[in-house]
Amino acid sequence: MSLKIIDHPLIQHKLAILRSKDTGAKDFRDLVEEISMLMAYESTRNIILEEVEIETPLEKTRAKAILGKKLGIIPILRAGLGMVNGILRLIPAAKVGHIGVYRDHNTLKPVDYYSKFPEDLAERDILLLDPMLATGGSAAASVEFLKNNGAKSENIKFMCLVASPQGLKTLQGCDSEIEIYTASVDRTLNEKGYILPGLGDAGDRLFGTI
Ligand code: PRP
Ligand code: URA
Repeated sequence: MSLKIIDHPLIQHKLAILRSKDTGAKDFRDLVEEISMLMAYESTRNIILEEVEIETPLEKTRAKAILGKKLGIIPILRAGLGMVNGILRLIPAAKVGHIGVYRDHNTLKPVDYYSKFPEDLAERDILLLDPMLATGGSAAASVEFLKNNGAKSENIKFMCLVASPQGLKTLQGCDSEIEIYTASVDRTLNEKGYILPGLGDAGDRLFGTI
């Protein structure tokens, strides 16, 4: 599995503000969107371009274009939703699917409750989104879910903002072929499965449900 830590100064600066307990819900939402958009540059670097014919004001020419219909953006509900708009601003033609998974607070095991995917998942490059990779249970379950619905490992990229070493190991163990993009690998997890130093509960901070 390949792991890419995106350490661009703009991303690191925004992540620092995101982590602060003093950052309110509106700024938190805006920052998650902005960081996701910036990370999308890197995580879409290998998207296949196709030649198209266009006409400039001066003459016809051939140019390269992304066929947006080949990309599927799949947020893991809820917190992954905060990452979608930033990526859609770059690739507006991408299709968006959803996976509903929450982590049981007692067992820390993922519980899935919803899914809706674009058709022909098997033919798409997939960006699976969740700001947090903590124990890795939710991401690993989501990858399995995608594969059970036809997605191919080699086409799946998981993008998060903060990962723990434990979560990376779990995801690696579940599928060694997927690519992982993160803005940070943090120190560890606490006894409740929260990432340290982390940024707290991403879903609650995004949607003001603390
Ligand atoms: C959070 C987060 C991930 C998951 C990460 O979601 O958004 O989906 O926890 O933890 P894990 O790696 O240990 O599985 P949560 O379960 O709190 O649900 P929510 O997005 O609905 O708040
Ligand atoms: N989910 C979160 O939102 N934050 C964590 O630190 C761990 C799981």
